Amino acid sequence: MKICFYDTKPYDKIWFEPAAKEKGFEITFQEVKLNRDTAVLAYGYDAVCIFVNDTADKETIEKLARYGVKVILLRCAGFNNVDLKQAEKAGIKVLRVPSYSPSAVAEYTMGLILAVNRKIHRAYVRTRDFNFNIHGLMGIDLKGKTAGVIGTGKIGQEMIRILRGFDMEILAYDLYPNKELDVQYVPLEDLFKKSDVITLHCPLTKETKHIINKEHIKMMKDGVILANTSRGGLVDTEALLDALADGKFSGVGLDVYEEEDEYFFEDCSNDLITDSDLIHLTSYRNVILTSHQAFFTEEAMRAIAEITIENADSFISGKNLNNLIK
Ligand code: NAI
Repeated sequence: MKICFYDTKPYDKIWFEPAAKEKGFEITFQEVKLNRDTAVLAYGYDAVCIFVNDTADKETIEKLARYGVKVILLRCAGFNNVDLKQAEKAGIKVLRVPSYSPSAVAEYTMGLILAVNRKIHRAYVRTRDFNFNIHGLMGIDLKGKTAGVIGTGKIGQEMIRILRGFDMEILAYDLYPNKELDVQYVPLEDLFKKSDVITLHCPLTKETKHIINKEHIKMMKDGVILANTSRGGLVDTEALLDALADGKFSGVGLDVYEEEDEYFFEDCSNDLITDSDLIHLTSYRNVILTSHQAFFTEEAMRAIAEITIENADSFISGKNLNNLIK
């Protein structure tokens, strides 16, 4: 089996090369992202392996099918970047890694919440400059406060477990509440009105796009903390920026950004950044923005590589496709 990997970094090679070698797969690592212009690199390959910021839209998929690609292997859980209808039409199967390490993402989310609450990022910079003044670094106790968790799937459940460890009250919202879960589900509006911390763990869909918008932000408590480690499109950046300017949030932790495709995972430190929203967001001292790294642990990378290669193996050897996206 020949697999063309897109948007690869040195750490992808470290984890994927041995896993592919074991199965005797031939793999090529491309640094460029998949899109309609780069699809041609997959000519003659059986599969493409893509990540969160590759684009498998209608035109790209049509091209991939023409070049002989039969399967798209997502080395991530989210699949909002793939036109599934077009893939089905083109006879291309789409497989993903539905779960690799929910705790990796949940633990990171808690890290962001703790950091923005207690201003650890600012304290780090101060003490490096021998500024030992703590004025402006005050946070709140999380114990006894209310956390609103939107999306109670694998990561959301890990998040609830961690937040309970901090003795927080939990309010949850999910389009499909999990009856087996011992948590209080509330309407979305109530969650927004009552939570001191709000954390997003639902996928990006038509329904969830801009779930954090002007109207919903208005419902939130003043001084609320928001964490988004799910997908950038869940937050209306303009509405967030307006609210930040009004001092609505005491802290915002973002691992994802609506327009991240062009910048995230790349070293742009020598480039002129033209995205004014990105510049604006990073200028707020109560915002921590990181580059989609919540998943990035050894355990997660090992699992992602193993499951992706297993998906490829199941496809080529005609086994059950357990991780097929329908
Ligand atoms: P999951 O599929 O286990 O859980 C998602 C939950 O969201 C489900 O309970 C589902 O019912 C719920 N949901 C669906 N539509 C909804 C809606 N309209 N409103 C409220 N809830 C809704 O997924 P998992 O593994 O927990 O991942 C959640 C998200 O985290 C992924 O979709 C992905 O976008 C993001 N993610 C981010 C990573 C990072 O590195 N920053 C890494 C892995 C995932």
